[in-house]
Amino acid sequence: MAGHAHDVLLLNGPNLNLLGRREPGIYGARSLEDIVTGLRKEAAALGIGLTAFQSNAEHELVDRVHAAADDGTAAVLINPGAFTHTSVALRDALTGIDLPFIEVHLSNIHAREPFRRHSYFSDVALGSIVGLGATGYTLALRAIASHLQQQGGA
Ligand code: DQA
Repeated sequence: MAGHAHDVLLLNGPNLNLLGRREPGIYGARSLEDIVTGLRKEAAALGIGLTAFQSNAEHELVDRVHAAADDGTAAVLINPGAFTHTSVALRDALTGIDLPFIEVHLSNIHAREPFRRHSYFSDVALGSIVGLGATGYTLALRAIASHLQQQGGA
């Protein structure tokens, strides 16, 4: 077992590799790399190990979630991108590994097209953060750190 009680897996779904270039009015000017660099600093300050993975492929995200069951991951932060609104498979992967996860969206999915209002993740997530841009990832990291601490992890 490689990890310890405070290892967090950050997952980003399709098109989030384009952050910074993709509809910046909606998703912000920061690249995913920039966001992850900032999160690593925050994670270090919180005593958390952070692993980041982005994929445009549903099966790769499903496989990465499965791997998290056995690699010492304590919790997951996930922005499923468009899979939020379509993927029963990714939802089932997360419920299947029985680790707490927080759902993050840069944009406010409730204030956009009607098809974005439904999430396959919200009802099984520990919590969801929407509409706060990249700050949402930081808040999710702080929230999961405090959750894991309350669970009595080392
Ligand atoms: C998103 C919202 C989704 O509706 C969209 O498909 C994305 C990004 C967000 O972070 O706001 O790709 O998850």
